[in-house]
Formats: sequence, structure tokens, C-alpha cells
Amino acid sequence: MGVMIAPVRKAVFPAAGLGTRFLPATKAMPKEMLPLVDKPLIQYGIEEAIASGIHHIVIVTGRGKTAIEDHFDVSFELEHLLESRNKRELLAAVRAISDMIDVAYVRQKEALGLGHAVLRAKDLVGQEPFAVVLSDDVIDAPVPCLRQLLDVYETYGAPVLALMEVPAEQISAYGVVAAEPQPHAGMDGLVFRIHDLVEKPSPQDAPSNLAIIGRYILTPDVFAAIESTPPGRNNEIQLTDALRNLLRERPIYGVRFTGKRFDAGDKLGFLQATVEFALKRPDLGGAFRAWLESLRLCW
Ligand code: UTP
Repeated sequence: MGVMIAPVRKAVFPAAGLGTRFLPATKAMPKEMLPLVDKPLIQYGIEEAIASGIHHIVIVTGRGKTAIEDHFDVSFELEHLLESRNKRELLAAVRAISDMIDVAYVRQKEALGLGHAVLRAKDLVGQEPFAVVLSDDVIDAPVPCLRQLLDVYETYGAPVLALMEVPAEQISAYGVVAAEPQPHAGMDGLVFRIHDLVEKPSPQDAPSNLAIIGRYILTPDVFAAIESTPPGRNNEIQLTDALRNLLRERPIYGVRFTGKRFDAGDKLGFLQATVEFALKRPDLGGAFRAWLESLRLCW
């Protein structure tokens, strides 16, 4: 009989970073609340978690906490107003947000790094495997990226990281893995066994062109690994460093996911995501395309 693999029921959303690349917009508001067309980035991530079968959400907040909490809370005044004006579709959209999830919040008082942010969720996660979603990585995929990772987790019961090929000149912006392909039914060439991880290497030190993107399935032993990880790059406690320590004790896998990822925490990536998501919207796409064409950008 096979070993029982614990189901992943919870997803942690670190949202306490300073978002310096998007100042001044992020001075008083977390970047996770920046809207892509008409939805904040974090809502795309939460919808991806739900579509992947995960309904318990933990959000690690810093400044701007109220904006995130209010977004996922019931807004009686707004619902009342929309009801009295007979705006049924908007009312349904607003209600769906608060009905969507069971959400718990924990505060990271100081932005001491992604590893530190994940550790703040330790008590709320408990002794269970869990997902981590960095919602400024927006992923448009036929099968939700988290679901692709879960399919691999459900085989090995081990941590699984989302990987993406990145050109050499951009590699030093990412955590990078050394990895070898792992045969996997139906996903040949997409699944890897990871042998090493390096946070933001210079191009000559990068062990491969496979970068870690903001989706992870982790096991609860990662918390002890983070606790014993000293501050690294930028004096922050890096999740990549903790995973490197954990690798000495257990195998870690990676999935080169199918889909298109946008770095919406970066201005150019955010603009690209905005254009592509707007073009796909049935209610906006046609008019938006016509306007883009009127700019005569191609000649
Ligand atoms: P980033 O590396 O994008 O950093 O964090 P940042 O501070 O948010 O943004 P920039 O680079 O200054 O523009 C990746 C993810 O980890 C979270 C962020 O909120 C983001 O979702 N994070 C990072 C924390 O929650 N706490 C931290 O201390 C650092």
C-alpha cells in the first residue's frame, strides 16, 4: 500500500513587502492591491488557489493591511447602495469576493524577507503541507499553475516549486535551481528533481536558466529550516536559502509550468499584464483593441 500523502488545504499569501519598484503607488497601499483591469492582483492569486481546490487562505500583511482586509470583507454600505440602485451584476461581483474564502491574517511587522514572512504563518498553518502564492506573479494558464504543482506534490509528498526558463541577462533577478529532469507520467520534460538553489546569482554563477517563480507547495518542516536560516542577500531571511538547507534532509521537486507569467510587481510587467488581460475581456477587449490599433504602433 502506498504512503498516505497529506492533502494541501491552505495557501499562504505573503503581502508585506515594501514594493519599492512601484513607488509612489505603493507608499500607502500594498502592491498586491494594484488593479489589473478591475481586480486587485491578490484576487487573481486567490481565485487561482480556489480553482486549484484550496479554500483556506492566510494573508501575511504589513502596511496597508486594512485595504486587503476590507477587500475580502463584507461591505454592507456598498451592497445596500448597489441593491437600492438595482445593480445586480455588480452586487453579485462584490458579494462573491467576501463569499469566496475563509481568510485569516497575520502581521509581519518588519519586511525582513520572504522566508521571514512565510514563517509568520507557522501557527496558522500548523503541521500540514501548504501552498505559497506571491500574487505579484500573475500567471495566465490553461490549468491553474498551483494545480500543476499539486499534481506533482500528490505523487511525491515533497515540496514542489514553480520553475520558468529565463534568459541569461535576467537570471540574476531570481532564485535559480540546479536540477535534473524527473520522468513523470503525462508531464515529461516538465518535472525536475532539484539539487541546489541559489538566490539571485550573477549570470556566470547561475547553475541553470531555470528560475523559481512565485508558487510553491511546501511541507511543514520548512518552518524549522527557515528558523535556522540566517539573513542572506539584502540582510533578508530568504526562502530560497531555507529551501537549500531543507534539501539536505529531503528531496525537492520543480515543475516547469505551462502558462504565461507576468511580473506585475514591476512596472513594465504590470503594463504588459494589463494589456493582455484587457484584450481577453469579453466586455472590453474589442473596444480596447480598436483603440490600440488607432495608435498605429506597428508602422
Ligand atoms: P519582492 O521580492 O517582490 O519584494 O517580494 P517587495 O518588497 O514586495 O517589492 P520590491 O522588490 O521592493 O519592489 C516577493 C513577495 O514576498 C513578499 C512581497 O509582498 C511579495 O509578495 N514579502 C517580501 C513579504 O511579505 N515580506 C518581506 O519581508 C519581503
